[in-house]
This record gives sequence, structure tokens and C-alpha cells, in this order.
Amino acid sequence: MKRDLLSLADVTPAEIEYLLTLASKLKQRQKTGLTPPFLEGKTLALLFHKQSLRTRTSFEVGMHQLGGFTSYIHDQEIGIGTREPVKDLARVLSRYYDGIVLRTFSHDIVVELAEYATVPVINGLTDLLHPCQILSAMLALREHFGRLKGLHIAYVGDGNNMANSWLLGAAQMGLALTVACPRGYQPEPTILAQASQIAETTGAMLEIVEDPHQAVKGVDAVYTDVWTSMGQEAEAEARRRDFQAYQINEALMAETLSHAVVMHCLPAHRGEEITDAVFEGSRSIVFEEAENRLHAQKALLAFLMAPEAQIS
Ligand code: CP
Ligand code: NVA
Repeated sequence: MKRDLLSLADVTPAEIEYLLTLASKLKQRQKTGLTPPFLEGKTLALLFHKQSLRTRTSFEVGMHQLGGFTSYIHDQEIGIGTREPVKDLARVLSRYYDGIVLRTFSHDIVVELAEYATVPVINGLTDLLHPCQILSAMLALREHFGRLKGLHIAYVGDGNNMANSWLLGAAQMGLALTVACPRGYQPEPTILAQASQIAETTGAMLEIVEDPHQAVKGVDAVYTDVWTSMGQEAEAEARRRDFQAYQINEALMAETLSHAVVMHCLPAHRGEEITDAVFEGSRSIVFEEAENRLHAQKALLAFLMAPEAQIS
């Protein structure tokens, strides 16, 4: 049976742990020029409905380093669900490719693609979830602190795909997560319910608050994302107003523990959700997280497309 990664709930905590460890090994191997060609001769389709820098390029470079090949296909060329039904393109692409990455708007589209595809499907971001980013963020945290267990993270800002994904990631890995959002911008209730159910079995602590000052007290990491996600551009002005009190700036960081780091999935809007001083400051590990997109996704590709692959 093929496996997909549409959500971090599609894998077990032990599998996430395995992916993070494999990612670290592949990262080390890449730096010493000894990357195993786990995906030699394998092909990956990259279907994008939205813009991307990191997701596209990290999958392209990752596949290349593992000996595989990618095709980048923008929706303008194929009309996902308009020129052709999703279920038809899923079955066509499954006959050419060994895996498919999709970045799109509605999460239902990636679910339908995975249902009809006979090869693994990876969610490269939907309006609901961005699981690859959280794998990379967790890898960066594990590298920085030497462990994931016991960490407390504050997510401050929009209850968007990143907040939803953090809820599932923290739940799976038994972390403490405080999400601070303005009223009306909270995470998706169905995801919160799913994450809360997982948290009961892993011992994770999940809480949603309104006050960003309360959220950052005592945490090890402060995470933020843009106030206006792709597809919400018409709401940008209202959002700038509604999120004013949620900026990660030096004053807010002064309320955290002195060892707390700052993270962001990128791209960042300096002067909105984060100030330039904090983004560029010594507590920022944003580029470590960005680098880890490459390593975490190489582990994911190997896990899904060459599950028999072993590395010492
Ligand atoms: N963080 C992230 O997914 O970046 P891109 O939108 O550039 O792919
Ligand atoms: N929430 C952002 C994340 C970008 C990586 C968006 O969906 O646009």
C-alpha cells in the first residue's frame, strides 16, 4: 500500500522521530558528499497552484541529490480541476511518476489527488496544512536544543495552515504549544479537535489564547507567519489592522526566556508580523529552518518512495 503525507496525522510519532533522524543523517552525508542514491531512476511531479521558493527548489534539489528527477508543473499549464478533473490527472501522473507533490488552495484537492493516485502524494501546502514545514521546524529545534521533548513553543499570529500544522506536530511529538491569535482568526476547529485527541495519548499540552504576551511567557521558541496568506490578498488591509498587537518585536521577545529562539516559515513581511531587528537578530533560526526543508523532505521522499532504503 502506498503512503501519503497530507497531514502530520498521517504518520505516527515514531515515524516522525524516524524521519527527523533520517533527515539528520542525510544532512550530514550531504555535507560530506556521500548522499546515498536512494531514489535513483525515480521521478517526482511538482504541481503548483501557488507561488513558491523553498518548497519547489528544496524538492527539486533533494530529488536530484538522491539520484531522482523532477518535473515542475504550474497550474497555468494544466488547469488542475478546470482543464481536467483532479481524479483524472491523478491517474495519469501515477503512470509516469513515482510520487507527486501538490501545492494548492483547498485541502480537498490534495485529498482527492491522493485518493486516486497510486503513488505517494505529499502536501506541499494547502490553505489548511503545511506539514513539510513543521518537519523542518522540528528538525531545527531538535538541532538547536539537542532534543524536542519538553520544549514549549508559542505560535503568535494567524490561525492559518502553519498554526494548524503546529497543532498536529506538537500533538504528535508530545510538545507544549500555546497559540495566540486575535478573535476570529483562530485555528481550524476540526484540526484542533483532532490534535487534542492525539494530545491525550502523547501528553502534549495545547492551548489557544488571545494574548500574545501571555503566550510567549516561559517558552523556548516563538513562531510566526505572515498575517495574509496566499489567496487572502484582498483582506490584507483589514488583517494588518487586526494583527497589529501580534507583531514579534524586541519588546515582545524581552518577555520570553533569554534562551528563546525565533522562527518563521518564510517568506517574511518585515514590519508586519516580525520586525527586521528580530528577524535578523541573534535569536533567529529562520534560515536553519529553511535549510532543513531540503533535509527533512529528502528523508520524507526516501520514506515514501524507497521505504526499504537503509542508512547507518
Ligand atoms: N515556507 C515555504 O513553504 O516557502 P515557499 O512558499 O517559498 O515554498
Ligand atoms: N501561511 C502562508 C505560508 C507560506 C509558506 C501561506 O499559506 O501563504
